[in-house]
Amino acid sequence: MPTNRAAWQDAAGETLTIRPTPYPTTLSPTQILIKPSAWAINPCDYMLQDTALPFVKYPLILGEDISGTVIETGHCVTRFKANDLVLAFAQGAFRGAHMGGFQEYVVAEASFACLLPEYMKFSEGAVFPLCFTTASHALFNSKFLALPKPDLDIGPGSSGKSVLIWGGASAVGMNAIQLARAAGLEVYATASPRNFEHMKNLGASRVFDYTSETVVAEIVAAFGKSACAGIFQAAGAEGSVKPCLDIADRTDGDIFVVTTTPLAEGLVPEGVRAKMVFGDDHDDILEVWEKFLPQALFQKKYLIAPEPVVIEQKGLEGIQEGIYILRKGVSAKKIVVVVD
Ligand SMILES: NC(=O)c1ccc[n+]([C@@H]2O[C@H](COP(=O)([O-])OP(=O)(O)OC[C@H]3O[C@@H](n4cnc5c(N)ncnc54)[C@H](OP(=O)(O)O)[C@@H]3O)[C@@H](O)[C@H]2O)c1
Repeated sequence: MPTNRAAWQDAAGETLTIRPTPYPTTLSPTQILIKPSAWAINPCDYMLQDTALPFVKYPLILGEDISGTVIETGHCVTRFKANDLVLAFAQGAFRGAHMGGFQEYVVAEASFACLLPEYMKFSEGAVFPLCFTTASHALFNSKFLALPKPDLDIGPGSSGKSVLIWGGASAVGMNAIQLARAAGLEVYATASPRNFEHMKNLGASRVFDYTSETVVAEIVAAFGKSACAGIFQAAGAEGSVKPCLDIADRTDGDIFVVTTTPLAEGLVPEGVRAKMVFGDDHDDILEVWEKFLPQALFQKKYLIAPEPVVIEQKGLEGIQEGIYILRKGVSAKKIVVVVD
């Protein structure tokens, strides 16, 4: 049997410890075992490294984004076989250490895996899983914006409605822009001016500078000319929730604001609906993972975004370094660690 090692988060406030861990020997019928060749780092990795949240038990194996090779499949899995190259969403923080991404063998649900097209490197495949999942929940889950599902045959803007992606240059935002456009929405986004062109390439029809003093008024005016299907605050921590709520408050209609960050008590104006996205019930987005993403990637109709930045230090030993780099902040980039 192969040996396995993992980068363990033993407690909040500590750095990762790499040590041997059991090789997963049991798969449920719907799971696959993956040997990662690349891991991407997410803000939640440094957040859970720094701060214990009540619903998370330590020690745990962090890591949500992997791409690598399928080693084995559960007996009900039909979309994958051994030796397939895949990207996959690892869910270790909630589902147990065997499903944590930062290890040499990872158990993942087959529903949250996707074949890598031939043109795609492991480092590129690793940029998608968590951010694609989060953006899908925000836009398509019936608990959140409940927009029509993306479809490659739908024309941009065909729904006659528009959506705002606040923080379009974040990893979540870049996925949200592409997904909303593929769902037939006209997409407005906010970003720093250096990322405006990038936002348009991903599918935004209008981009607003979130640092401008007039950004709220500009977006309210833009929504005045089209029906608003909702607002997704995809980046910017708590400080960017308020302008999103202000836009909803000043725009006609029943506007739903979905946030990636918690909503402080008393912040939501009367008449505005707002909720933080949390992907605990995945049924509503299964078809987005299982049908839309593979087709869109294979037909090159979904861009690799954000761009992966592969750090020098390789293997599990590079992951703590990757966490340090991400903690300092990135712009339209994803920090990725490769195995070799
Ligand atoms: N609730 C959930 O389930 C869930 C899941 C995943 C992520 N998240 C959260 O979602 C957020 C985004 O995660 P991520 O990985 O996508 O982040 P990221 O890629 O690290 O975000 C970096 C980007 O944020 C943009 N940004 C920073 N401040 C902003 C502001 N005030 N307004 C608008 N944009 C701003 C920057 O844009 P410019 O470079 O253009 O300035 C930068 O490109 C994080 O807070 C993360 O913790 C939540």
